[in-house]
Amino acid sequence: MLRFYESKKIADVYVKYRPTYSKEVANVVVNFLKRNRGIAEETAVVFDRLIDVASGTGQATGLFAPFFKRAVGIDVSAEMLKQAQQQNVFRHVTYKQGAAEKIPASDNSADLITSAESGHWFDLPKFLQEARRVLKHDGCLAIICSTFPTVIEPLELPGGNEYVMGKYASDLFTKCLLEGKYDVVAYNHVFNKYKDIYKAIPSNTKEYNDDLTLHFQWTLEEVVGHLKSVDSVHNVLIQKAKEFEELGVEVTEELLKPFDLSERFRGEVKAAWNVEEIPDSEVLIRGEADMFIILVSNL
Ligand SMILES: C[S@@+](CC[C@H](N)C(=O)[O-])C[C@H]1O[C@@H](n2cnc3c(N)ncnc32)[C@H](O)[C@@H]1O
Repeated sequence: MLRFYESKKIADVYVKYRPTYSKEVANVVVNFLKRNRGIAEETAVVFDRLIDVASGTGQATGLFAPFFKRAVGIDVSAEMLKQAQQQNVFRHVTYKQGAAEKIPASDNSADLITSAESGHWFDLPKFLQEARRVLKHDGCLAIICSTFPTVIEPLELPGGNEYVMGKYASDLFTKCLLEGKYDVVAYNHVFNKYKDIYKAIPSNTKEYNDDLTLHFQWTLEEVVGHLKSVDSVHNVLIQKAKEFEELGVEVTEELLKPFDLSERFRGEVKAAWNVEEIPDSEVLIRGEADMFIILVSNL
């Protein structure tokens, strides 16, 4: 099983810098569940039980929680769950350690199983088998993900040129991510927008939705933070820290900084945008990512 989100450090940046999802994402999923139960979209319903698999720090769990009487977020990482519990504002939401391939829930118990930004890490056949076991006969599965930001455009740049500099920053962001240490098979699922995962799901009552875009208003500090929360960037630092430790060298933040791809992004973007004198928190950015959602009933 792949486990890339185990450290406290990545959980701390993840909770701070990863965006939550828009209401439209919740609507697409909940309306699918309603359609499958013959409920009109405009009818307000509170379903019984949600299980959010690989809940991380709880972004998707919190999004869907208002539509359920009980919601459980499940994740393999104790550190991600600790953050999720600290952020939790719902009395009916709980978090539990467990894996997508062995969901800690009883048979026929969930109305909806969700998984956001995480389906590419799973052993898909085992996850689907578990989802089938845990879902009620009329329950649904929603697998949600987004691309890496496709647009990172400065809002007010000294000297203008926002579009060209936006393209430069978006390309640099992707380049930094791909220079990191990542699982090629998992990332390929994201690059093809889960179309291969969609094909592999053995159900003829499934839908693929890529109509939604995630919009962000960020500062440069937040873009850099987002990059720090991505496993490929984080894994380089873990590997470097190990190498230094093996050499008996004391590992400090300063020592690791030259290997931090998010710091490289920050330095190169600030130079290209000519904003070196402006604090990162005052450099305003518009961002976008493409969303894709797999919806399945009769699993
Ligand atoms: C990119 S985060 C997504 C977190 C959250 N769902 C969100 O939308 O932001 C991926 C999460 O998947 C978890 N994860 C990876 N493989 C898993 C598995 N096989 N079973 C359960 N959780 C897993 C990681 O621990 C991490 O918290």
